[in-house]
Amino acid sequence: MRGNWVVAIEAMVNGKPVSFDVEPDTPLLWAIREGLGMTGTKFGCGIAACGACSVYVDGEITRSCSVPVSDVAGKSITTIEGLSGPDGTLTALQAAWVEHQVPQCGYCQSGQIMAAAALLAATPKPTDADIDAAMTNICRCGTYPRIRAAIHAVAGTTATTPTAAQA
Ligand code: FES
Ligand code: FES
Repeated sequence: MRGNWVVAIEAMVNGKPVSFDVEPDTPLLWAIREGLGMTGTKFGCGIAACGACSVYVDGEITRSCSVPVSDVAGKSITTIEGLSGPDGTLTALQAAWVEHQVPQCGYCQSGQIMAAAALLAATPKPTDADIDAAMTNICRCGTYPRIRAAIHAVAGTTATTPTAAQA
C-alpha cells in the first residue's frame, strides 16, 4: 500500500547538504525539480527509457525518474546545474556542445551532457562504437551526429563511421 507520509531525507546535491521533505517513494526527479526547484533535469518518459532525467548518484549515471528518493539518503547527487564550476565556467564538454551547436529543441540535452560526461570519465578516448554503446539517451530532434562530433572534439578523437542518422 502506498504510504502517505512525509519524511526528511538528507543527501548532498551539487556539493551542498539538502533535505528532501517528501514522501519516500517520490521519484528522485521530482524531488529535485519540485522539492529543490532545480529544473535542468527533465522529465521525458518516466520509465527509465529516454535518459532526459539523468543525474549522478555517488558518481554513477542514474535515471532519476525511476529511483525513489529514499534510495539516495546519505548519497551525493550531481545534476546538470552542478556540472560546471561554482562560478558558472563551462566544462570542456559543455563548451564543445556550444561550439558544435548540438541542441535543437534542447529538451533532452542536459541528460545527453550528463551521459557524455559519464562516458568520458570512464573512457577518455571513445570510439564511435563506444559512443553509440554508451549514449542510449533518446533525442527526438535527431542530434546524434552533433552529439558524437562534440564528444570526439573534447576527447581529441575522430569519427570513423557515420551514425545511423547520417547513413
Ligand atoms: S524521464 Fe527518466 S529515463 Fe525518461
Ligand atoms: S534536442 Fe530536441 S529532443 Fe534532443
